[in-house]
Amino acid sequence: MDFTEEIKQDLESDDWTVYHAAEMDSTNEWAKRLAEEGAPDLTVCLADEQTAGKGRLGRVWKSPAGTSVSMSVLLRPSVRPEHLSMLTLVMGMAAADGLGKIMGLPVGIKWPNDVVIHGKKLCGILTETASDGSWVVIGIGINVNMTDFPEELRSKASSIRLETGREESLPRTAAVVLNEFRDYYRAFLETEDMSGLRATYERMLVNIHEKVRVFDPGGAFNGTALGIDDAGDLLVRRDDGTVVHVYSGEVSVRGIYGYT
Ligand code: BTN
Repeated sequence: MDFTEEIKQDLESDDWTVYHAAEMDSTNEWAKRLAEEGAPDLTVCLADEQTAGKGRLGRVWKSPAGTSVSMSVLLRPSVRPEHLSMLTLVMGMAAADGLGKIMGLPVGIKWPNDVVIHGKKLCGILTETASDGSWVVIGIGINVNMTDFPEELRSKASSIRLETGREESLPRTAAVVLNEFRDYYRAFLETEDMSGLRATYERMLVNIHEKVRVFDPGGAFNGTALGIDDAGDLLVRRDDGTVVHVYSGEVSVRGIYGYT
């Protein structure tokens, strides 16, 4: 059975259009090209290896072939364009739930969408939206079968295999996350924002009630994370008592005592 057949076997919904390639520049770029060609809602692109994988904040995302899931989901929801980026949190919820089920271990979210276990990152998410709001592409890289990481990542990254000691199937991992995503996406579309999912998201949020440092372009500050608002912005009570809404596009947030 090839990769596409294996993933389709585990997908619970027939709504998905699945593309798979052995090698691709970046699955996000691939999904964006398909979007421009008119590909439908719920198109998913997967690659065994990316030659130009992209991370958040202009970083490079690298993963050796066979060790990870690199996939991008193209969506065309009819929601207000400024609401599209909230879907990045929805994918974070799907990944945390799906990977938690696969591993049988509690997996959390570091706001906005890093999926973490024991304080280390299991997957990263990069969301890109069309300037006219006609599509959104959510790319996700999941650390599945890595047995080691480069020195600079060792204290910050983990994989399913490192946590469970078991090798995991890449198509099954992808399908489990996509199945969770299908359900959360439906729930998101009911309100077109995070209001219906907020309580569930906050239960997954490892930063909640924790001290965080917010790296805002206007200057860094410390505070306590209180949760999210209906738009998915992080609510932070600053040390001077004021509560601010932190928008994920502009800032990064770190724990005071470590990565999470
Ligand atoms: C992050 O910096 O945490 C986000 C990493 C996102 C990586 C994924 S891998 C699949 C998709 N294609 C890309 O080029 N990037 C995303």
